[in-house]
Amino acid sequence: MTDQPDTRRALRDAFGTFMTGVTVVTALDDAGKPLGFTANSFSSVSLDPPLLLVQIARTSVNYPAFTSGRGFAVNILSEGQKDISNTFARPVADRFAGIDWQPGPHGAPILPDVAAWFDCALHQVVEAGDHAILLGRIEAFHATPAPGLGYYRGTYFTPVATQGAVPTGPDIIVSAILERDGQVLLCDDGFGGLTLPTARVGRDGTAATLQTLIAQCGLNAAPGPLYSVYEDVARRQQHIAFRCPATDGTPSRGAFVDLAPASFADVTDQALRTMLDRLAEETRMGNYGIYFGNQDAGQVAPVAAGPIEKGQPR
Ligand SMILES: Cc1cc2nc3c(=O)[nH]c(=O)nc-3n(C[C@H](O)[C@H](O)[C@H](O)COP(=O)(O)O)c2cc1C
Repeated sequence: MTDQPDTRRALRDAFGTFMTGVTVVTALDDAGKPLGFTANSFSSVSLDPPLLLVQIARTSVNYPAFTSGRGFAVNILSEGQKDISNTFARPVADRFAGIDWQPGPHGAPILPDVAAWFDCALHQVVEAGDHAILLGRIEAFHATPAPGLGYYRGTYFTPVATQGAVPTGPDIIVSAILERDGQVLLCDDGFGGLTLPTARVGRDGTAATLQTLIAQCGLNAAPGPLYSVYEDVARRQQHIAFRCPATDGTPSRGAFVDLAPASFADVTDQALRTMLDRLAEETRMGNYGIYFGNQDAGQVAPVAAGPIEKGQPR
């Protein structure tokens, strides 16, 4: 059923209608190095014995360490820890850099200022499709009054700070269209498909987030013209994509593929795939437009050749 990217995407979105908190699951590797990943698949399981569960993707680089180690900790993030969640969900070289973590009583890393933590022994691993269920036996735990960070339809929310409301404004998502020699850089979307290098716009704003995104790809590239602005209404996200001509450098994530529709078959986001198809066609024709609309429909405004005059569409 889910061998079609569209169906897989629809199922992910359906799962996303379930509001959750956000956790960072941590452990130490054999050399004592801290490991961790963001997870919202946490659930309490049993009081006697005290058990909890969290699921880890088989594709995670952390899979071997978490499924065969002596244990792990679940850190329930507090409202102000959205940035920590993003760090532990992205390919950051050292996710613990600048974090003052402490080993818990059972040994796994405990993050500061979390709403609660549970330090667990690995009780059981149950393989389940493309994930494994990690059952942890709670050896020690601590809870604080700090309100937890929420996650709903692919967006964070802060229930207490916003007095119980889900956010009113959409999250802003920026994508870098890194182009070179008729090719474009596509990366793993973390769920078996492909995507553009994409990030949620942080506190520093869109331009800084785009620069960080380019730097993370390890390429020599410059932010270029705006290419697409669209709203994904269901996911409450505003997407902005910029063309970024790349020169030299070997990508540290993803790979360049030909700018042709056949290369985009594994791009799971339908709106993104439509945008890439347009880019392929416009590159072939040699003239470009800017898309404004939502995830389903909108209009492409041609890029004005001369100076933009008052009253003309921008
Ligand atoms: C809010 C949120 C929840 C996530 N939940 C899970 C999860 O439950 N299990 C999982 O394996 N990955 C989950 N991910 C994705 C991982 O955090 C991310 O793909 C992973 O850290 C990538 O790095 P790694 O697999 O190389 O460790 C989640 C990401 C986010 C942003």
